[in-house]
Amino acid sequence: MKLASAFLAVLLSLAWAHDGRKHIPKTVGGRRLLSELQAQQGSMSRGHAVAKRHTAAHQRSVLKGRRDDDDDGRCGPGIGSCASGDCCSYEGWCGKGKDYCSAPDCQINYGSGCDANQKPSGTDTSGVARTKPGNVLYGGAGVYDCVDPGNIALTFDDGPYIYTNDLLDKLKSYGAKATFFVTGNNIGKGKINDPATIYPAIIQRMHAEGHQIASHTWSHQNANQLTKTQFTDQMVWNEIALNSILGFFPTYMRPPYSICGTDCQDILSALGYHIIYFDVDTAGYLNNRPAQIQTSKDIWSEAIDASDPESDSFLQIEHDIHYQTVYNLTDHILASLVSAGYKAVTVGQCLGDPPANWYRAGPGGPAAGAGWK
Ligand SMILES: *[C@@H]1O[C@H](CO)[C@@H](O)[C@H](O)[C@H]1NC(C)=O
Repeated sequence: MKLASAFLAVLLSLAWAHDGRKHIPKTVGGRRLLSELQAQQGSMSRGHAVAKRHTAAHQRSVLKGRRDDDDDGRCGPGIGSCASGDCCSYEGWCGKGKDYCSAPDCQINYGSGCDANQKPSGTDTSGVARTKPGNVLYGGAGVYDCVDPGNIALTFDDGPYIYTNDLLDKLKSYGAKATFFVTGNNIGKGKINDPATIYPAIIQRMHAEGHQIASHTWSHQNANQLTKTQFTDQMVWNEIALNSILGFFPTYMRPPYSICGTDCQDILSALGYHIIYFDVDTAGYLNNRPAQIQTSKDIWSEAIDASDPESDSFLQIEHDIHYQTVYNLTDHILASLVSAGYKAVTVGQCLGDPPANWYRAGPGGPAAGAGWK
């Protein structure tokens, strides 16, 4: 019985290897959502799934008497790296362009061309002193809740993106402040400090309009699957990019997939970061269709309806890279929190941390310097 099913599995994997779809890379959005869900649910991580598949591919090529590097265009664990400058897609194919190179899916250990491996231009921030003012925890197990009753900290991860300017308009119309956990280069959007993109102006606008800018790492990798050097780069590269736009960089961050083991916590403590999680997740990123987004609105309303602004507060998470979140769910949330008597504030405000502590002045950035204080 065991043998029979193993044989069947081999047949199936051979069928997969030889079918005509093999060179088609993944679609960008769907895979990422799936991996995010898997990571959040603590089920088999994407890294393990990929490793398993590639081990099977490796064994097939050995059976056929082929050397790994003859296995045309393949890459990944047990196989090897792509040619210099090429990207290794999520499915383990070498290539160039968005479908192969976008973070977080491009396999950074097997494709030097992956977006995640491209350092931004700008002055190095790693020498900036990491003082730790204020009462909010640095590093460690992180922060899940606001402290001041009546506050709601709306937070948006993974942007800025093409919807973010419209989101800023919406927040402004409600007099709401939010926190943006910015990712430096993900989903093929380009580097946030590339002057050819819309992002530098959006990030400056966020700051000018009283929102808090925080880090969601350079390219949204799972910290627990990185070396210490790789994770440090994930933090410092985002600092370099943000500092080149603002003249300062954040002391607040959220780990991608909310995953941050002890190495990650120790590095963040040394770099002087507050690790921010959340206590309400409407899962807007899983409900990005008109017929689905009501599910997220209901999650929100249930939380708010059962609460009292005299005694309660919320630290909420959304993602401004999803259309229904920005153009539909956020209206519901803003209208609801205002009518329930809450105030939308930044994470720093909801933790009672003065704005002076939200950032560090960086070297060589625009004249703004410490101008946020
Ligand atoms: C907004 O969400 C509702 C469900 O709450 C849905 O019926 C409607 O189609 C959505 N609107 C748009 C423009 O997608």
